[in-house]
Amino acid sequence: MKEILLERALKALENAYAPYSKFQVAAALECADGSIFTGVNIENASFGATLCAERSAFAAALSEGKRQFVRLLIIGGSAGHISAYCPPCGICRQFMSEFCAPDFEIVLCNGEQFETHTLKELLPKGFSL
Ligand code: THU
Repeated sequence: MKEILLERALKALENAYAPYSKFQVAAALECADGSIFTGVNIENASFGATLCAERSAFAAALSEGKRQFVRLLIIGGSAGHISAYCPPCGICRQFMSEFCAPDFEIVLCNGEQFETHTLKELLPKGFSL
């Protein structure tokens, strides 16, 4: 499954909109029913309005009514060149904690190897109401 997610993310990476940082990111989200949604980073001239690839993938899935998620694969690199792991930012970790269980898997790929973490590992004390 990781390979399939990687394939989908690599394809989506072409659609990253990153004219300012040139750092392209893509994410592929696997839902509990087996469906996969992708997302890319979408930058904005007002930098703070930029949307990360992870939240973009979740927005696509949530908008189609998906609510159960298994894992998310993330790739990213300057000018789309994948040579290092691209872990999710703090906002994306908190965003994921709204919809995902602590054992939700976050799979990183550096182009050669995979590294898998649980959401609980990456966000040990997330905020909740
Ligand atoms: N970015 C993501 O898409 N996901 C992250 O978790 C971290 C950063 C994007 C935002 C911006 O377009 C670029 O990477 C450089 O920060």
